[in-house]
Amino acid sequence: MPLSPNVAKLKPSATIAVSTLAKQLAAEGRDILNLSAGEPDFDTPAHIREAAIRGLGEGRTRYTPPAGLPELRKTIAARLAERAGRSIPWEGIVVTAGAKQALFNAIFSLFGPGDEVMIAAPYWTTYPDLATLARAEPREVFGDEANGFKISPGHLDAAASDATRGLIINSPSNPTGAVYRREELSAIAEWCRDRDVWLISDEIYRNIHFGEGPASGLLELDPGCLPPFVLVDGASKSFAMTGWRIGFSYADPRISKTFTALQSQITSNAATPSQVAALAAYSDLAASEAAVAQMGAAFQRRRDLVCRRMRELLPDVPFIEPEGAFYVFFRVDGLFGNGVDSATSWCSRLLEEEGVALVPGAAFGDDRWVRLSYATSDEILESALQRIASMVGAASASA
Ligand SMILES: Cc1ncc(COP(=O)(O)O)c(C=O)c1O
Repeated sequence: MPLSPNVAKLKPSATIAVSTLAKQLAAEGRDILNLSAGEPDFDTPAHIREAAIRGLGEGRTRYTPPAGLPELRKTIAARLAERAGRSIPWEGIVVTAGAKQALFNAIFSLFGPGDEVMIAAPYWTTYPDLATLARAEPREVFGDEANGFKISPGHLDAAASDATRGLIINSPSNPTGAVYRREELSAIAEWCRDRDVWLISDEIYRNIHFGEGPASGLLELDPGCLPPFVLVDGASKSFAMTGWRIGFSYADPRISKTFTALQSQITSNAATPSQVAALAAYSDLAASEAAVAQMGAAFQRRRDLVCRRMRELLPDVPFIEPEGAFYVFFRVDGLFGNGVDSATSWCSRLLEEEGVALVPGAAFGDDRWVRLSYATSDEILESALQRIASMVGAASASA
């Protein structure tokens, strides 16, 4: 039986596929070092877990309104208002089952057949697939490698067409770890404003930033330079809450009504106990800020470790020095040969020969690159880098 054209181009998430294979090989007894994960390796902070348990005891197990518990939406709006320095209407917040659903709500509601959606590349693997599900056309826009692939109005001018309706950016970036500075974001926002292009800004890694304070986002910009926009964020990465499935979007309340209606037909509301947990994450500021700072310090130490060891062990392998998130993106086309002609085949060989799982750049729009996640222990990172160096050394010795 043929399936609907809705899913004609649908494929499973490439990053989840690698991670699942690595876990399966480990379960079969192989010695696997899994550096493919897209999630913090920390437990959810205790005050958040305890709030959920208390909520269960109090019977908070029923449906909530589709857009989420009003007290959670108001609390998130208050956090955004502190950042923006102006009031943020809580009716613009929609709580979702992970940031992924916020992105789906936005992309599916805003774009459709005939629309082009520009995506800053290398991109998180899901964006083009969501655009395709909406039957819009994803169009990748690469910035310059020397600038961490960050895009600027010049790149957008070159890629835009009359059909361009949207742009998706992500800072700090998965997979590159690049972070847009406020002026860079402003220039992009103004470009979108002047052309009436929707800007979707995925700020899910905002708190994992190795500079001063959280990374800049849309709300720190002068409101006058803002185009129509949707800000996407959530609890998954900031508070090590990936399995709880809590994200949110913030947009004009009139647009948020449509997101809510869409969600009311698909999942109703994000899981109620998870919303209760998220309320603690966003309202118990002292405990949450301490947890975020502690995890951030660990990520920064690991970032430093990986970059230092990459320079020592793999001096000829270019990589982007990450300023946020928990990934290092490095370039392997200089290592091709001996039947390896893509990052995909390079990663397969690495997994087979050395038991190290990384994600090939095909998942992010450029299969000359590889993503290493350092959301794991220092010991595993050290062993993995030694194994990578061993495969690279053996390949160059036999060349
Ligand atoms: C850039 C980016 N956006 C969104 C998500 C999805 O987050 P969530 O788990 O909250 O759906 C991820 C997850 O890996 C991500 O890397």
